[in-house]
Amino acid sequence: MKTFIASLALPLLAAAAPTCTPATTDANPPFSVMAVRSASPIHYLQLNAAGQKFWLGGQTSSYCPTEVVQNCPPGNQTILAPGGNALDVEVPGGQQVYVDPTGALSFTQAHSASIPAGSSVGNLAYQPGTPWAHYTFNGWGATGLMACPTEDNRWQVFAAMSNATVPSGKVGDCLGFSALALPYEGDVPAWQYA
Ligand SMILES: *[C@@H]1O[C@H](CO)[C@@H](O)[C@H](O)[C@H]1NC(C)=O
Ligand SMILES: *[C@@H]1O[C@H](CO)[C@@H](O)[C@H](O)[C@H]1NC(C)=O
Repeated sequence: MKTFIASLALPLLAAAAPTCTPATTDANPPFSVMAVRSASPIHYLQLNAAGQKFWLGGQTSSYCPTEVVQNCPPGNQTILAPGGNALDVEVPGGQQVYVDPTGALSFTQAHSASIPAGSSVGNLAYQPGTPWAHYTFNGWGATGLMACPTEDNRWQVFAAMSNATVPSGKVGDCLGFSALALPYEGDVPAWQYA
């Protein structure tokens, strides 16, 4: 594992350079997530929030109400709040992150605390590490996260569980990945994700 990570460090730094902030002294920072699974289509793809679910690649989907539109953050990158069980947003009440009963990594709508019955709540975690911190899911005996192909050629993020209900119907189509957590410094990046 050590050799594996060390061999990743150089290309990863190069790839992450545009968005990677300097090392932080904060032990529990807000963070973005980048997938690592070498020699796969998801290698180095960013985790993006859209439509109350999470995807690798594509675009972050966010929203700003007209009352605040003048002071709206750009909302173009997906940042998790410290600990990883919520999104880093300005909207009052915040937005929680959880795993729904199908296994899909999910987030609550703004102004709603509604989470489907049978979801796993509070089991996502930011794990500090050297050189990289990781984002993990520890509920239901899962071993982290996986990305599953969709009909419209996207990769949707699920808890890595053999009984997940995935878009293609076959968990064997999914790719487990290492979720690098990259500390984020700066203003809250979005009013709300949508
Ligand atoms: C987000 O938008 C801002 C302002 O338009 C821009 O400066 C920044 O580079 C963008 N960031 C990303 C990650 O796309
Ligand atoms: C999936 O498996 C886990 C671990 O055995 C279990 O805790 C969970 O309830 C199962 N979920 C479903 C939807 O069957």
